[in-house]
Amino acid sequence: MTGVERVGVIGCGLMGSGIAEVSARAGYQVLVREVDDAAILVGRKRVDTSLGRAVEREKITPSERERTLERLSFTTELAELGERDLVIEAVVEDLSVKISLFRELDGICPPQTILASNTSSLPITEMAAATGRPDRMIGLHFFNPVPVMGLVEIVRTIATSDETLQTVTSFAETLGKEVVNAPDSSGFLVNRLLVPFMLDAVRLLEARVGSIEDLDRSMVLGCGHPMGPLTLCDFVGIDTVLRIAEIMHGEYRTERYAPPPLLRRLVSLRRFGRKSGLGFYDYSQTPPVAMPL
Ligand code: CAA
Ligand code: NAD
Repeated sequence: MTGVERVGVIGCGLMGSGIAEVSARAGYQVLVREVDDAAILVGRKRVDTSLGRAVEREKITPSERERTLERLSFTTELAELGERDLVIEAVVEDLSVKISLFRELDGICPPQTILASNTSSLPITEMAAATGRPDRMIGLHFFNPVPVMGLVEIVRTIATSDETLQTVTSFAETLGKEVVNAPDSSGFLVNRLLVPFMLDAVRLLEARVGSIEDLDRSMVLGCGHPMGPLTLCDFVGIDTVLRIAEIMHGEYRTERYAPPPLLRRLVSLRRFGRKSGLGFYDYSQTPPVAMPL
């Protein structure tokens, strides 16, 4: 028993859709908030596709899929999240957007509701400070794709209570995830290692040390990575990688996290990677083809 029955998820993009799916699969009643009906349609389709894949791979039965869908509902109204035990935010990586959401949620949710952010790199403490419940605010950092990746980083601030930490740890475990505890410092554990690796690959590409395909193939075939670093940038979202790099660079002020100009150019062109169809690769082709740069 986690003390959590009803979960709210804010944002149904790459991460929110996965968080909503695994929560509903684990038996929680899940209400997802998106900005408009069009975004709900896209988010719902993401969950449908992922559940369809799970049925195909015989990870769940068709009736488990139906029961999961019955536990999932969608809204555009933040006020409808008032009855939730735990609300997990997974919107764009922008501190001002997250702070204003948490401020609003604080006014909507009863005092016992725990608020959590799936941020990759932003300070949980700043979000906690925007609420009247810093003891019930925590970082809950999932990995992409959420239904597949086994880890959740739990980020406790100096204000987070033991009870909140315990509840959220049990919740993550009921989703079948393993937990590592991380400090509230930008990038927590995983992104302190992963982000410089991805940025270095972009720098090597800029310096013409290797082509997109060769840099990716090198790490897949040479080191056994499941996907190369530039494919991974496309998978995470180039817009998200750029934001994370900017935030981590702002925090640590070392070149290790400095965003390479090529990332900005791609974002200016709205080449966000797999989610927009174009990034380092063109996803309208099967298999995806490296773009000329
Ligand atoms: N949603 C749900 N399930 C998915 C999926 C998705 N989007 N993509 C793949 N899967 C599942 C498949 O169903 C399959 O499951 P089984 O093996 O149980 O049948 C399994 O994943 C493998 O899928 P495939 O064989 O189709 O494809 P693959 O072998 O190429 O694996 C991958 C796909 C799991 C994504 C793999 O390439 C991988 O692990 N890539 C690295 C992902 C990674 O590093 N993620 C972390 C990103 S960083 C982050 O998340 C933090 C941040 O703050 C930015
Ligand atoms: P995304 O761009 O795929 O999705 C963000 C979604 O949030 C969009 O669908 C957007 O419509 C919605 N949104 C924006 N403002 C909203 C609001 N006020 N209310 C409700 N919905 C709103 O982004 P993502 O990749 O899912 O990333 C979301 C968060 O998760 C970010 O903080 C990111 O750093 C973090 N994260 C991302 C990854 C990754 O691999 N992409 C991994 C771990 C953590």
